[in-house]
This record gives sequence, structure tokens and C-alpha cells, in this order.
Amino acid sequence: MPDPVVRLSSLHLRLTGAAGAVNILRDVTLVVEEGCHLAVIGPSGSGKSSLLALTAGLERPTSGTVEITGRNLAAFDEDELATFRGRTIGIVFQSFHLITTMTALENVALPLELAGDADAIRKARRVLAETGLEARSGHLPVELSGGEQQRVALARALVNRPPLLLADEPTGNLDNETGSAVTDLMFDVAAQAGATVMLVTHNPDMARRCQRTVAIENGTCREVA
Ligand SMILES: Nc1ncnc2c1ncn2[C@@H]1O[C@H](COP(=O)(O)OP(=O)(O)OP(=O)(O)O)[C@@H](O)[C@H]1O
Ligand SMILES: [Mg+2]
Repeated sequence: MPDPVVRLSSLHLRLTGAAGAVNILRDVTLVVEEGCHLAVIGPSGSGKSSLLALTAGLERPTSGTVEITGRNLAAFDEDELATFRGRTIGIVFQSFHLITTMTALENVALPLELAGDADAIRKARRVLAETGLEARSGHLPVELSGGEQQRVALARALVNRPPLLLADEPTGNLDNETGSAVTDLMFDVAAQAGATVMLVTHNPDMARRCQRTVAIENGTCREVA
């Protein structure tokens, strides 16, 4: 049996803010097999974004382990983690997070350039074309609509064919029609890349398009039928 793409074991996340310590996640165990599209739902503040941050290694758990493609993230130092993340995980956020001074094409090429790929621009151009944005490749993010910015973010997340795509309410800032077009595109491009997907969403239609759904409630995670 190959390692699952994601294995979260007994995750606990306790954060200390100005108002004191809060237990965000108390005991989360979750296995996501290769090629699975998993929806993560739950009320606002339940810890969905925190769960994705732990899975991406952007946040370290208070206890428990995060294994991605069989590698325990706790074994990496910050540099190793950044390199591993760059190769293995594509991330799409609700608010796009594009680099404002770079064109669409440069934003998409960035992960490849960071990985030292001499063919970065050509590959980025191809993926951008797959998202229907060839004609916008020279535009800065401010010169793109919300839906276009999210398509650029999606192209950037998938340009180096990572085995895992993490998406945090990727259509939360878009109108229904644009959101649905971006969703179609996300599932298409992820399927072409063979990527496993963890998708945080409040949208039941998006959740239904995933093979599995888990709900985060009271700091734990349960499978929803
Ligand atoms: N640095 C911090 N210190 C203390 N508490 C925090 C910190 N960051 C986030 N929280 C709390 O963690 C909880 C979970 O936040 P998270 O962003 O994961 O929720 P969410 O499920 O993604 O919510 P939403 O659906 O609104 O995006 C929230 O109650 C939030 O107030
Ligand atoms: Mg959130």
C-alpha cells in the first residue's frame, strides 16, 4: 500500500492570543488517500483554516503529527519545510494572495523559478492558457477581475504538479457564476494533475462534488455521510 497523501494523527492546536490560550483543535485524526477530493466544512471559527495551515506546515501542531506523502513534517527544519512544501503542496486562499508587482505570468512562474526550473516561463504560459487567461498574462493583479485573479492563483498552485492541493474557500470572494466556473476549473485541473484535494467550503454544491466530506466541530473532525 502506498502512503496516503495526508495523514493527520491526534492533532492538537492551542494558540495563545492577547485574550489568553485557546484550544482550537483538540483531537483531529484524518487520512486522505491519493486522488481523493475531500471537502472540509464546519461553522465559522471551528478551525478549518487552522487545519489547512497545519496540513501545509504553515503552523506547527501543539501535539500530534502531520505526515504528507509519508513524510513527518516535524522532522524538517524551516528551510527543508519550505522546499518540501514548494514541491509537494499547492495552496489557494480565499483572497488570492497574488504578488501585486508581478504580472499574471510571473506569478504563475514563481514556484518553478524558486525550484530553479529553467523552463519556468514556458510552463507557466501553458498552465495559464489552460485556465483561459493567455490574453491576460501581462496584466498585474489589479488589472484582473476577482475570478481572473483566482484562476491565476489556481494556475500558480498547480503549475509544478504538486500531489496535494489545499484550497481555503477559493470561491468565497466570487459571485455564484464566477465561483462555479472557478470550481469547475479547479476540479478539472486537479484531476489532470492527479492531485489530491482538501477543500474548505461553506458551499454545499462544492462539497457534494467531493468524494468525501468531513466536518470540524468542537475541535474534532468527523466524517459526514
Ligand atoms: N493567533 C491566534 N490566537 C488565538 N486564537 C486564534 C488565533 N488565530 C485564530 N484563532 C482562533 O482560532 C479559531 C479557528 O480559526 P480558523 O481561522 O481556523 O476558523 P475557520 O473555521 O477557518 O473559520 P471561518 O469559516 O470563519 O474562516 C477562531 O476561533 C479564531 O478566533
Ligand atoms: Mg477560515
